Amino acid sequence: MASSSAPQHSSPPPSSSSSSTYYEIPWVEKYRPTKVADVVGNTDAVSRLQVIARDGNMPNIILSGPPGTGKTTSILALAHELLGPHCREAVLELNASDDRGIDVVRNRIKMFAQKKVTLPPGRHKLIILDEADSMTSGAQQALRRTMEIYSNTTRFALACNTSSKIIEPIQSRCALVRFSRLSDQEILSRLLTVLEAEKVMERFCIGT
Ligand SMILES: Nc1ncnc2c1ncn2[C@@H]1O[C@H](COP(=O)(O)OP(=O)(O)O)[C@@H](O)[C@H]1O
Ligand SMILES: [Mg+2]
Repeated sequence: MASSSAPQHSSPPPSSSSSSTYYEIPWVEKYRPTKVADVVGNTDAVSRLQVIARDGNMPNIILSGPPGTGKTTSILALAHELLGPHCREAVLELNASDDRGIDVVRNRIKMFAQKKVTLPPGRHKLIILDEADSMTSGAQQALRRTMEIYSNTTRFALACNTSSKIIEPIQSRCALVRFSRLSDQEILSRLLTVLEAEKVMERFCIGT
């Protein structure tokens, strides 16, 4: 993933017919913060996540708030800070485009929770369930049991727009981290950073 401070261009695809044609990562991905500290706004939420990253004692968490406020970004950044090179084997990320019905919870999530992964002391495997409020209550009940059974080795991070759509027994097992809409000023300043890094004014506005 590209860092906000050191944006990267991907290599041209091998089949590229013109040497001047480069595939560019969409800016929304290219400038997705890779460190919790670089997430803009929501200072309370961000500082709570920074404490978790620093101390390493990850609870089960629910990140709730409107779309596009940095929930997925924050949890991915936290996973990297906690697990670094172990992320590949120690993190399972399922988003709304994955089936997360009761069978997936019973099979895929449970299998991952059972998997033995050697991690540094005090670290846990992490299951990220994006847009968890779209999971059926049957799937959430199964999730709750998996959460209980594998609490020694596995933590869960659920992102959702509305935490009230998460069943109460899961809510009560999770720390709730609330995100709210960014201010116009916060968004504007982030956009200006991107414009500057992409030299948009120089590239597109010369002579106008
Ligand atoms: N707080 C933020 N700080 C910096 N970039 C953000 C923030 N929120 C969203 N973005 C940008 O918007 C994109 C989508 O954000 P995302 O974390 O997926 O939002 P959510 O999960 O809350 O819907 C990210 O890739 C990032 O480029
Ligand atoms: Mg998201």
